Amino acid sequence: MLEVADVTKQFGNLTAVDEVSFEIGSGEIVGLLGPNGAGKTTLFNCVNGVYTPDGGEVRMNGVSLSDKPVNEICKLGIGRSFQIVRTFNNTTVLDNVTTGALFGRDGESMSRTQAREEAYEYIEFVGLEEEANTLTKNLTIANRRNVELARALATDPDLILLDEVASGLNPAEIGEMSDKIVQLRDEYDVSVFWIEHIMEAIMSNVDRIIVLHHGAKIADGTVEEIKANDEVSAAYFGEEV
Ligand SMILES: Nc1ncnc2c1ncn2[C@@H]1O[C@H](COP(=O)(O)OP(=O)(O)OP(=O)(O)O)[C@@H](O)[C@H]1O
Ligand SMILES: [Mg+2]
Repeated sequence: MLEVADVTKQFGNLTAVDEVSFEIGSGEIVGLLGPNGAGKTTLFNCVNGVYTPDGGEVRMNGVSLSDKPVNEICKLGIGRSFQIVRTFNNTTVLDNVTTGALFGRDGESMSRTQAREEAYEYIEFVGLEEEANTLTKNLTIANRRNVELARALATDPDLILLDEVASGLNPAEIGEMSDKIVQLRDEYDVSVFWIEHIMEAIMSNVDRIIVLHHGAKIADGTVEEIKANDEVSAAYFGEEV
């Protein structure tokens, strides 16, 4: 479904993403790991059109995303959340998620009433029905992450990119968020590409893991394969390990 072929992104002399290639299939939950500064967020930005890659190509369901703006890429079925939450804080939860529906895949053919109904479904899915009319700035960090998740789902994606969606959450909230991610794959048939530093969350919930180090892909395999991979251990803990 998602094909990333030799994607490279440079900032001046720094190669933040270095000829990275991989695929994500329908229904997969794939973790993206790597130490701080490895290029994970930059790779997400190359996939959803925030950055135009300096080399390589990204395709979604066979369609090249080269030079397509973020709003078009969203309509082609890629939704996302952000490492630093980017909710619309001075509006309600309902308005945040309705915006996702209106600017998503079927947004142009949707009335505002229909968009609100769609939004309610995803607000219920993330458990925020009691906060639907609350201003987003008054929510906890966990619930603002839930708003971003619901807003992304409301765009009707085939693939959702989650950038540290469990970051800043307490252990109970991390468990709830992880369960929701597995559930959304099963209920809405959405594939998930998930950056996370919280290893328990990733290791027990993904089908496959890709690891970046200094911008390059150093591993792509099952949880067991990644745990046994010496290059991955060295990237995280130093060569002597
Ligand atoms: N807009 C930018 N301009 C210049 N350098 C950048 C920019 N964005 C990222 N970088 C650099 O590119 C490299 C990769 O950054 P990126 O944010 O993609 O890493 P990351 O793997 O998401 O890290 P973290 O786990 O800390 O979020 C880093 O060295 C970073 O400083
Ligand atoms: Mg990042």
